[in-house]
Amino acid sequence: MTSAGFDVDRIRKDFPFLSRELPGGRPLVYLDSGNSSQKPAQVIETMREHLALHYGNVGRAMHVLGSESTEAYEGARDKVAAFVGAPSRDEVIFTKNASEALNLVAHAFGPHLWRGAEGDPRFALGPGDEIVISEMEHHSNIVPWQLLAQRTGATLKWFGVTDEGRLDLSGDVITERTKIVSIAHQSNVLGTVNPVAEVLRLARAAGALVMLDASQSVPHHPVNVAELGVDFVAFTGHKMVGPSGIGVLWGRRELLEAMPPFLGGGEMIEAVWMDHSTYAPVPHKFEAGTPPIVEAIGLGAAVDYLTEIGMDAIEAHERSLTAYALDALREVPGLRLIGPDSLDLRGGTLSFTLEGIHPHDVGQILDDSFGVAVRVGHHCARPLHLRFGIPATTRASFYLYNTTGEIDALVRGLHHVQKVFA
Ligand code: ALA
Repeated sequence: MTSAGFDVDRIRKDFPFLSRELPGGRPLVYLDSGNSSQKPAQVIETMREHLALHYGNVGRAMHVLGSESTEAYEGARDKVAAFVGAPSRDEVIFTKNASEALNLVAHAFGPHLWRGAEGDPRFALGPGDEIVISEMEHHSNIVPWQLLAQRTGATLKWFGVTDEGRLDLSGDVITERTKIVSIAHQSNVLGTVNPVAEVLRLARAAGALVMLDASQSVPHHPVNVAELGVDFVAFTGHKMVGPSGIGVLWGRRELLEAMPPFLGGGEMIEAVWMDHSTYAPVPHKFEAGTPPIVEAIGLGAAVDYLTEIGMDAIEAHERSLTAYALDALREVPGLRLIGPDSLDLRGGTLSFTLEGIHPHDVGQILDDSFGVAVRVGHHCARPLHLRFGIPATTRASFYLYNTTGEIDALVRGLHHVQKVFA
């Protein structure tokens, strides 16, 4: 046990993938949860059982299977709302992934709203207005805002990143022309946890809305959207022991109500005529078509699983793994950590370069020779890598099922890679 009540050996028994052996009897060492996490039997079984016994379409089928499916799907919404401290379950919108949640919000801005009778000036965006992001964003929190800037003539601006891998809040990036600020809660490359309160203070002083990409924080830390005080939060199921194909947008209700729908289709309407439609109340206004039913139910099971273990305990376990890994990696000659070298305001995502060796070679040898799965490349954060003058990094990312022994395996593997290339 690494912290009170947290038993990593017991947790590992919940994850069927850990029963696999690679050729030669090597165990599988999965250090790529920042990319996508593994799933416990509880999530797999909940989804299997729903598909096998309870499956029907939601919100529109007047039979027992439809009712059971609707109850389970809406029950998952309740679970997610409670998990992130949403003041209302109706503020939780199921999307395909975090990218879709970010696109949904970006889509709400535009010059068309200046004209519409229902237009809300907070979403009016045109030439001279500003969108603010940061240089450490995942492409999913860059490209939607680039598209919005192109569509509206607004200006895209960004906070830089310090040499240590922190958000550089110096300078007047946010101005009275800023309409929306969207930043990562935790960087998927650096592990940096950003100072949300400070960004919020700057944004509020300018009258701007604030969105967080919490894809890398919600799985690993207790996150309460009401306490954060921001306007929108996006995250995804597959990084938090849930399935892929399901993401979440949380938004403040009055903002969601003021926003136009994102996709049109069945179930997002109140009434349809040939020339116009009226829309369902939130959250369904934003859930066009048959949603990812079983995926949402799987996410509900993931939330149950994480809640039972406790997010405080998971955070503490990952913190001890990160401390161990920071110490261990410091001993590897020629290793350059990209991101904070201390435990302050950082999560368990460690990206690095090895002098003279391409990350793709590092990843391949770790995988082939040691069964250690890491991610290599720019991790969908190319501008951040350009900022550090490197094309790619090797990234190890930890989760509740990882152990210090697995970090030892990573370090042994890195020494071996260096011998191969000596
Ligand atoms: N955002 C995921 C990662 O960082 C895909 O690996």
